[in-house]
Amino acid sequence: MTLADHGAGKSYLGFILYDLYFKALGQGRIYGIETRAPLVEASQKLAAELGFERMEFLNMSVAESTRADFMPERFDVVTALHACDTATDDAIAFGLEKQARAMVLVPCCQAEVAVCLRQSKAVSLARTPLAELWRHPIHTREMGSQITNVLRCLYLEACGYQVTVTELVGWEHSMKNELIVARYTGQKKRSAAQRLRQLLAEFGIEALLQSRFSALPELQKSEREAPAV
Ligand SMILES: C[S@@+](CC[C@H](N)C(=O)[O-])C[C@H]1O[C@@H](n2cnc3c(N)ncnc32)[C@H](O)[C@@H]1O
Repeated sequence: MTLADHGAGKSYLGFILYDLYFKALGQGRIYGIETRAPLVEASQKLAAELGFERMEFLNMSVAESTRADFMPERFDVVTALHACDTATDDAIAFGLEKQARAMVLVPCCQAEVAVCLRQSKAVSLARTPLAELWRHPIHTREMGSQITNVLRCLYLEACGYQVTVTELVGWEHSMKNELIVARYTGQKKRSAAQRLRQLLAEFGIEALLQSRFSALPELQKSEREAPAV
């Protein structure tokens, strides 16, 4: 069992999972990926004190860890708890590259799509009442966040994962409370790929196809044009 925890921070999640599960399992390894060196050093120190030998903490970005040749070729589980901004997308890319059996994601703030929305002004929707959904800056931000998570779920479904979305904890604890659980089934939903492309086109943010959804299965011309069901 290999688990990568992206945007690990102080690695609370990794330590809990190791203590509750990996310790008794007697095998398996947890990798905490974190860009802030002091947090990585503190986690390394704590793991040594606790004798949690099968925990590693790497001072690098999620994207760098995907390319690092010393990392295992496959991971069973990918977690990303409030990994900032697009680090959740990088964690998904990591999970796809490493053929993860499960990804458990709680996205954080997200700015990328809101910026694209502001730039493109979603031309095809601008003259419809739907434009009201992101007219005010705070709504642009929230819509951007909402669209981002919807696109992430469609992407995972299109890549062979069964997805459930629910709340992580009570809203009094965190406003960033969306829990996305993806389990690999191998069944790639073509309707999800179709819907994802259609949403990108409707919102005028097709540029994200290359940067964020590069593993999206290609569709036949007829599928691209037919309504998604
Ligand atoms: C809000 S904290 C969450 C920490 C931890 N997962 C938790 O829930 O306690 C997000 C962490 O992700 C790290 N981070 C942000 N972008 C990252 C990236 N691209 N790669 C790795 N770590 C990143 C930040 O340094 C920060 O420690």
